[in-house]
Amino acid sequence: MAPVRKQAPLRVKKVFVKSYGCQMNVYDAARMADVMGAEGFSEASRPEDADLVILNTCHIREKAAEKVYSELGRLRVLKSERRAEGREVAIVVAGCVAQAEGREIIRRQPAVDAVVGPQSYHRLPAILAEARRTGSAVDTEFPADDKFGHLPAPARERTRRRGVSAFLTVQEGCDKFCTFCVVPYTRGAESSRPVAAILDEARRLLDAGVREITLIGQNVNAYHGPDRDGRPSSLARLIERLALLPGLARLRYTTSHPNDMGDDLIAAHRDVPALMPFLHLPVQAGSDRVLAAMNRHHTADGYRRLVDRVRAARPDLALSSDFITGFPGETEAEFGDTLRLATEIRFASAYSFKYSPRPGTPAEDAECQVSEPVKSERLARLQARLETDRQAFNRATVGQTLDILIEKPGRHPGQLAGKSPYGQMIQAEGLSAAIGDLASVVVTAAGSNSLFARPAPGQAFPSTRGAPLMTAAA
Ligand code: 5AD
Ligand code: SF4
Repeated sequence: MAPVRKQAPLRVKKVFVKSYGCQMNVYDAARMADVMGAEGFSEASRPEDADLVILNTCHIREKAAEKVYSELGRLRVLKSERRAEGREVAIVVAGCVAQAEGREIIRRQPAVDAVVGPQSYHRLPAILAEARRTGSAVDTEFPADDKFGHLPAPARERTRRRGVSAFLTVQEGCDKFCTFCVVPYTRGAESSRPVAAILDEARRLLDAGVREITLIGQNVNAYHGPDRDGRPSSLARLIERLALLPGLARLRYTTSHPNDMGDDLIAAHRDVPALMPFLHLPVQAGSDRVLAAMNRHHTADGYRRLVDRVRAARPDLALSSDFITGFPGETEAEFGDTLRLATEIRFASAYSFKYSPRPGTPAEDAECQVSEPVKSERLARLQARLETDRQAFNRATVGQTLDILIEKPGRHPGQLAGKSPYGQMIQAEGLSAAIGDLASVVVTAAGSNSLFARPAPGQAFPSTRGAPLMTAAA
């Protein structure tokens, strides 16, 4: 009798993707998991379980880029531990640090197998094969013709399990060249996907149970993708088309530039019920001299007038923004202009950062860099202002009746968590609703990070039904 040979159990390979930075990276991380899923990889929830670890990096500020190298140091240790156990782990650096630094990453950290720029994710399997063959691979090409080749293949898209809320890339890159920003260099020239491709992807998302779609792009309101007749469509036209799709409850978009806020987009905030009353509109600074040095092409008063127009179209709109403190040459008086603008406009939420010199950007070499302590002190004052306004906005919603889109179980048993139209996370008690439902609630209290609610009178049941995936134990 022939000897029975013992076979090693077949192990499914696993990929772990860690994303840093913006929503575009969150979207791209899902795309990379999809591409590797088609190669037979399942997703791991931690790097220790993975055969392939991808760091999807952000280059926008120095801190974000440096985090990558400390994470790579930890992964190098993991890789050699696994090798000692007879298992290979491949490490890939993707995203904007990959695009900006290319092979330098492998020089600094030789444990890295491949470096892949944001336009090359669809080529990941071939890049990994090359790394196995030659020891390492770098692909940071900007394709001349097919900038969106890395976007989803329909067949894979259908099989992916999704939440209630999804991102959809409609535009990529930026031509604005703000003097502090790396995006035009790492993400390349601005380009928009065709309307038909976006509608197709949106339909697939809705078929998979998604109810809220956030349209993303580095400069999303500059969207001008070709419509079926070949003519460019504005973001407002695209939003009107998407709003007609059955199953869609909510639309959002981010991030916008003040100079691309067209009249039709402002009107869409008044006329399209599915478009949520939320707008992320970075201003960066409140001083005209600083704004000019940043190459923003708008003034502080221009921004104030724009805000007035958007608020006239949609009075309850929640405004959000980005700010930079300590841009080169910023004086105390100029910083005062930023504080004054924030105080006047009263943002519902905002992100604020110390200026971080980025390699290759015009402001990097500017004389009169502001010292770190001054940047930090100004940031602290600005953040105190912004935090006061955020809390005030949240408190102002107490007592209001709102629809929330249920996303997940709440923090405590009997609670469900969902977002308000303004993007606040709300913990709702006593609702008989399912994930994906829109439920009408009355906001009862505002904590520092969430709001609390109970069913609106006569509305113990949701106003529209989503997929009956789970019900809270009331
Ligand atoms: N330093 C600090 N903040 C920056 N941002 C972009 N580049 C820099 C930089 N070099 C901020 C801007 C932008 C947000 C995404 O990041 O506020 O809107
Ligand atoms: Fe960067 Fe935004 Fe300016 Fe473009 S518009 S360069 S993405 S800050």
